[in-house]
Parts: sequence; structure tokens; C-alpha cells
Amino acid sequence: MAIEIIGTGRAVPPRRVSNDELTAKIDTSDEWIRSHTGIGNRHIADEGTATSDLALEAAKNALAMAAGGDTHVSEAAKNIDLIIVGTSTADFVGTPSTACIVQYALGAENAAAFDVTAACTGFVYGLEVAAGMLSLDRGRKRALVIGAELLSKVTNWNDRSTCVLFGDGAGAAVLEKTDAPCKGPGRRGLVHTLLGADGSGGESLLFRRGGTRNPFKAGETIGTGICVEMNGQEVYNFAVRAVTDTIKALMQAEGLNADDLAWIIPHQANARIVQAAAKRLKIPIGKFFMNIEEYANTSAASIPIALDEMNRSGKLNKGDMILTVGFGGGLTYGGNIIIW
Ligand code: UT7
Repeated sequence: MAIEIIGTGRAVPPRRVSNDELTAKIDTSDEWIRSHTGIGNRHIADEGTATSDLALEAAKNALAMAAGGDTHVSEAAKNIDLIIVGTSTADFVGTPSTACIVQYALGAENAAAFDVTAACTGFVYGLEVAAGMLSLDRGRKRALVIGAELLSKVTNWNDRSTCVLFGDGAGAAVLEKTDAPCKGPGRRGLVHTLLGADGSGGESLLFRRGGTRNPFKAGETIGTGICVEMNGQEVYNFAVRAVTDTIKALMQAEGLNADDLAWIIPHQANARIVQAAAKRLKIPIGKFFMNIEEYANTSAASIPIALDEMNRSGKLNKGDMILTVGFGGGLTYGGNIIIW
């Protein structure tokens, strides 16, 4: 039995905001943003869009690929047993989950649905949770794993140290339990995952207000509203360590060297994090897929957006071994090894 990805999809809002557009509003420059992060643009949703709207579009694209065309999406949705959305920017605080909203909109009437909160590692976590649930002998065969974020709505647009970093988007993958082997020659699908957390670093990346620790009070003037706060340097140091250690541990666990990997797909938070990790690992930087220039940091959506972009542009061949690596709020980290 193997857990294979049989379809991918992505969705980003049409509005593309360049670094230059931001310089008109805040004290920053295209040169600073590019040299410190590798970001050139981001896609920003309009007022009326919520996270589930992007998640739904990405999910439909993934289902269309899995089912062989747009006309089969609603039928394919009925064959989904599980929907997991990795997000930190759910449509609602608490309930309903974004996954339930997607489940209803898709007509996925046979699916269980819930969100995974692991910040930028949400998709990496979601894949493992889905694979675990599909592996149990409970009659589940297909899952939809989505990473979706609308970070522009939780961004303090006056804080130049965070607002230039983030973008909106969603990516999705359809997983299927197949008869292919998951061990030995010819193995396929999700073959290894490493997940970790270091809650001691929770304060370095958080939404301080709006939850039960610091709720908004009746009549309070809330200023910037719910917004992400980050100690950039602390997270940067953690991220370089997390990327390096996760890749090393996964490769060791599978007895791999860099030549065995067709691609490494890192969370797209900062090109410098990836360059630093590549240098430490002595892995050529060309092995790491990067699209941060176009989308900025889309948190849980960044890895599935990259996966879909690679898939649709023919960069992934059957049998390729790819390694994903994520890190972010929590703090959380992790990676998957997938044989395409
Ligand atoms: O996906 C979740 C995980 N998040 C991350 O992985 C983010 C990790 N952190 C980072 O990527 C980097 O720390 C940042 C990109 C956030 C910041 O880069 P940095 O090289 O660590 O910059 P810094 O915070 O040390 O700031 C250097 C200078 C400061 O000015 P002074 O004090 O040296 O005069 C900042 O005020 O850059 C200034 N600065 C800016 N200048 C122009 C900060 N933001 C900006 C900006 N434009 N947008």
C-alpha cells in the first residue's frame, strides 16, 4: 500500500503587488526587500475574499487534475474521505473550520474535515496526518490536503519589518491509497516524514490578540486588529537550523545523498535561509526549487503552491524523489520525502 499524490492545484489572487508599489506607502525599497529576502512581488486578495475561497479554488484544480478534467470535479469530490486544511488564517476564529467550509462548497459529502494549525509547516503536517488516517483500515481511500492563507488580512501594513514579507494563496494535493509498494524497489508516494516542534519559541512568531489569552474586550478600540508579530532574527536563526537539520535527518533516515533527490522544495520564507542551509549541507542551490520572487511568503500554502507549479510545468517526473521542508510559527518544523 502506498499513499500517492494524484493531483495538485493552486490559487492566488489576481492582484499582484510589486515591491515598488509598497515603497509608495512605507519606508522601504525594492533593493532592501530583494537583497534581504528574494521577494519581488506578492499576490493580495480583495476585501471580499476569505481563506476558504482560495482553498476551494486550489482544491477544485487539484481534483480536476486527479479526475481528468473540470467536468468531473463534483463527482471526484464525493469520493474524498478526508479534507485537511493547514492554515493560521482561518475564515473564522475557532469554528467552523476552513476545511468544513471547503467540504460544503465542494459537495464532498463523504468527507471528514478539519484544520491543522502548524503555521508554515501546516501542509507538511497535513500530509502526514492524512497519510496516517488513510493507512488505517477504516475504508478511507482519498484525502484532500490544502495549505491556504490570507496573510494580508492579519498584516500590520505600517510595520515594514513584516508587511513586505507575506502574500496570499493556496495549494492543494489529492492523496490516494494505492496498491503500489511503499517500501523496497518501485516504491511510491509518501515514504518518510519528520515532524517537530519547539514551543519555547512560540513568542517569536504570533498573533498576540484575539484568542483566549488576550481576547478583544467589548468596546475596545483595537488599533491594528489581529496581526502577526515576528522577531525576524530569532525566527531566521531557528529556520536555518530547522531546514538544515530536517534535510540531514531525512536523508540519513533513508540512507540518501543529494544526488538521489530530484528536488528539495523548501518553505518560501526567505531565499537567504535556503542559501544558508544549502551551504551548510553542501547541496547545490539549484536543487532547491524557489518561487518566492513571485509569491512572497504564503505560509502553509507555499510548499503546495510550489509543488503544483513544478508539477504543471513538467519539472516532476514519475519516480523522482523530492523532499519538502517547512518551518514556522509554533515553532514547528518538518519535512516529507515523496516519490513522484
Ligand atoms: O514563514 C515564517 C517564518 N518566517 C521567517 O522565516 C522570517 C525569518 N526572518 C527573516 O527572514 C529576516 O530576519 C527578515 C527578512 C525578517 C529581516 O531581515 P534581517 O536581515 O534580519 O533584517 P533586520 O531585522 O536585522 O533589520 C536590518 C535593518 C534594520 O535597520 P537598522 O536598525 O539596522 O537601521 C531594520 O529597521 O533593516 C531595517 N528594515 C527595513 N528596511 C527597509 C527592516 N525591514 C525593512 C524594510 N525595508 N522592509
